[in-house]
Amino acid sequence: MSEPSKDVKKILISDLWSMKEKGEKISMITAYSYPQGLIVEEAGIDVILVGDSLGMVELGYRDTVPVTMEEMLSHTKAVTRAVKRAHVVSDMPFMSYNISIEQAVTNAGILYKEGVADSIKLEGGQEMAETVAAIHRAGIPVFGHIGLTPQTAALLGGFKVQGKSIDQAKKVFEDAAALEEAGAFALILEAIPKELAALITEKLRIPTVGIGAGVGCDGQVLVLHDMVGLFKRFTPKFVKVYADVYATQVRAVEEFIGDVHSADFPGNEHSFGMAAETAEKLRKQLLS
Ligand code: KIV
Repeated sequence: MSEPSKDVKKILISDLWSMKEKGEKISMITAYSYPQGLIVEEAGIDVILVGDSLGMVELGYRDTVPVTMEEMLSHTKAVTRAVKRAHVVSDMPFMSYNISIEQAVTNAGILYKEGVADSIKLEGGQEMAETVAAIHRAGIPVFGHIGLTPQTAALLGGFKVQGKSIDQAKKVFEDAAALEEAGAFALILEAIPKELAALITEKLRIPTVGIGAGVGCDGQVLVLHDMVGLFKRFTPKFVKVYADVYATQVRAVEEFIGDVHSADFPGNEHSFGMAAETAEKLRKQLLS
């Protein structure tokens, strides 16, 4: 767990539980680097997810499948070095927990212990309940993730809304109950109908955090790069875009290029100098 500082109170799992009890909404966002950790912490976010979405938005992979433990660990460490107050969740990458329970507990331990995360997250419902229980028994808090699970989207018919029929909705509902029973302390509900998300939220004691699951969840999460306009490859329907940081950065670099070409940069204020007399002596010695 990242070390609490004297004057900043760390958000604990018990705080997230009492937010649900009091009906206070939980804010959650992804971050993958030290500066992003500082930015979202300064904004006052409750929970930060070092998501495996980093594969797409930071590393340029096609999807989240190729992300490795080494990449998740390195980015988790960068974020936890920046963050003192928010609860930091580290995402387990595909195939770091799918082979055996022993493998899952070992890798959860690496992200929790070496990454200094406050909890780990993994995708999957009833089929993952035993794994969740084992990680929880080992003393590591687990954030579940059900509905559309991007790591296994190929088995779900692609990036599609899940739980639209009665049978599918019952399956998602049972997944949620199984994960709570297994010891998960909170759940991401991704891309499910808002009516189903509200029913799950009403039934569970643990908080639900939605992404494309409507306003009836206990909290909401978005991918930072989607909501600040840094990732342009595609924008899912459930994203609200609050800024165009990509365009701002392109404009800044264009301006820099212009200043370099026109020799308006660097100015005197960005340069170091020496005494005129010393400069003159140096010129004579070096160039005459
Ligand atoms: O990796 C991620 O960013 C996620 C969110 C979509 C919840 O899992």
